[in-house]
Amino acid sequence: MARTKAHRIVEKAIWEMTATEAKVRIESLSRELEAHNHRYYVLSQPSISDYEFDQLLKELESLEQQFPDFADVNSPTKRVGGDITKKFNEVVHDFPMMSLSNTYSKDEIVEWENRIRKIADGEITYVCELKYDGVAIGIKYVNGAMLQAVTRGDGTKGEDITNNVRTIRTIPMKLSGEDYPADFEIRGEIFYPLESFQKLNAQREEAGEALFANPRNTASGTLKMQDSAVVAQRGLDCYLYGVYSKSPLASSHFESVQNAGKWGFKIPLQEKKMIETCENIDQIMAFINHWDEARHRLDFEIDGIVIKVNDYRQQEELGFTAKSPRWAIAYKFKAAEVTTVLESVSYQVGRTGAITPVANLKPVLLAGTTVKRASLHNADQIEKLDLRIGDHVYVEKGGEIIPKVTAVDLAKRNPDAPVFEYITHCPECETPLARNDGDAKHYCPNDAGCPPQIKGKMEHFISRKAMDIEGLGSETIEQLHEAGMIHSIADLYDLTADQLLPLERMAEKSVENMLDGIEASKQVPFERVLFALGIRYVGETVAKKLARHFKSLEQLMAADAETLVAVDEIGERIAQSVVDFFAQPDHQTLIERLRQAGLQFEIPEEQFAGNTEKLKGLSFVISGVFERHSRDELKALIEKHGGKNAGSVSSKTSYVLAGEGMGPSKREKAEKLGVSIISEGDFEALIA
Ligand code: IVH
Repeated sequence: MARTKAHRIVEKAIWEMTATEAKVRIESLSRELEAHNHRYYVLSQPSISDYEFDQLLKELESLEQQFPDFADVNSPTKRVGGDITKKFNEVVHDFPMMSLSNTYSKDEIVEWENRIRKIADGEITYVCELKYDGVAIGIKYVNGAMLQAVTRGDGTKGEDITNNVRTIRTIPMKLSGEDYPADFEIRGEIFYPLESFQKLNAQREEAGEALFANPRNTASGTLKMQDSAVVAQRGLDCYLYGVYSKSPLASSHFESVQNAGKWGFKIPLQEKKMIETCENIDQIMAFINHWDEARHRLDFEIDGIVIKVNDYRQQEELGFTAKSPRWAIAYKFKAAEVTTVLESVSYQVGRTGAITPVANLKPVLLAGTTVKRASLHNADQIEKLDLRIGDHVYVEKGGEIIPKVTAVDLAKRNPDAPVFEYITHCPECETPLARNDGDAKHYCPNDAGCPPQIKGKMEHFISRKAMDIEGLGSETIEQLHEAGMIHSIADLYDLTADQLLPLERMAEKSVENMLDGIEASKQVPFERVLFALGIRYVGETVAKKLARHFKSLEQLMAADAETLVAVDEIGERIAQSVVDFFAQPDHQTLIERLRQAGLQFEIPEEQFAGNTEKLKGLSFVISGVFERHSRDELKALIEKHGGKNAGSVSSKTSYVLAGEGMGPSKREKAEKLGVSIISEGDFEALIA
């Protein structure tokens, strides 16, 4: 493999380092990387390039591998995850995690303010904050280092999710400044930013997977995942709202929050009015009214406003009821919801043939935009809502871009309205619809003849993450399809300037760009070509996995469902879809034409440099957590040396590669079947 000069120098330097030098360098690199993290994620003011950051991180990774004794649990290398938590341990909270009394009524806020003004001694200053709609978290720090992150649970005890919380880039693992208490807990709310949430759902949609309902539940589900590497990729974020310590802190809540900002935490921005001190009820109401409207422009969801007494002494004086502090109250916004009439239901056909029903509504204003359509997801959803045309329906806007129908106002239903019948044939090509066991959606099986599927597949093929064909957009695809020049993606590679120039809106320059773009796509790597083919359930990640495992289209096409399922993370649904795709004669013709055109159907040899066949014919099962490698690295090493990875122990398993916390059932099974259990060190010796 070609190595940069810098890389060689770094490696040489590490090789020659004494343990003391390594320790010093590891500490300084960790500090530097955490500072860059803070600048990038919390302040949005990066001062080095991503490349430079990666180089520093790589240096730290190699040092930690060489000197594992100095690898800190709070090292910046932990941000990418990899630690597996099989069971989240229960932890009793030092300070109970209480709830807030809340109200939807502004009158009750006025009453609350009146009441506490009478109880507390002296003038009261309030702090108004956003009520983040996420998952509460309490994180303990000792001597400036993250110790433990615990969920709210039942308020008295929660679950230790530290490994997952370490992957959230805006939460510091080591604090900056010096004036933080030696031992304290900070509490806040972890949430799913809307942009990341929508991206996640778009990826799932593309892979034909069920969509997540809302950002809050998805944040909660993500934090309970066993594999922290997946959590790391999800892009969760966190705002902090309270500091708790047995030793004395600042004198007010506002001051504490500002201090937490100086220690490196992400705190609400004053300049964006996300936190404000208020002297009276009018200022509190102005804050509430501002956010009731402005919340729709935030990149995360809030469900209300929290009003807190600022002074800690006054907070103490006011005290708590059984469940919540008297010194705080939440004003909750009503969900952005309206009722309107369901006029009709139409059906969209996606590029993979999946049918999505859409509600056509009498236009209505909701959270600042006019809504005419809402998603109905699938036939089951319509049945669950028991929808009838003409119904008055409730429409709500949550974290998604498209609003959804949540319920029917049965009191207003016309008793004669017929029961809703879902379509049985494709609205575009009349083919009878199919539905596979376990699939939520119906689909049109006529993929070679159904117009939206043909166009959709072509648009997908040329899209940025697939073949990325410059000079060709969906309008041109539409035009070429309508002119009868392209029926399949392979036709793109037969287009000539003579054919294109006579078409409307085709200038010489645009034709040249288009043909250059098509020509250049012949160099797009195999994994993206595979993604571009648009096989149902084969999204970007799955395509990458399959390409790297099988290395060529020929080998992938030769694989049966059983072989496919043996590949890490490939389930039966994906396996069957791949087998079905390649079994169709018109797909085989398509592949042959694309091969003739010169597309990349394999990973070039150079990428296999360093590969050996030392593990040929051997099948491995990895279990537990390892000192020097992540599980993904071990899997990659096994494949690099010709071995195979399997998910469960069977008589075909050659070795179980066992790390810390290996599952007892795996061990038992391996022992029963007489499969050798080896350590990370034994494995390194095998491939040395
Ligand atoms: S203060 C004693 N401030 O709301 C309770 N909570 O109903 C102190 N929340 O579990 C909580 N934003 O998860 C506080 N700015 C904020 C908040 C907030 C969201 C959540 C928190 C808590 C729940 C209470």
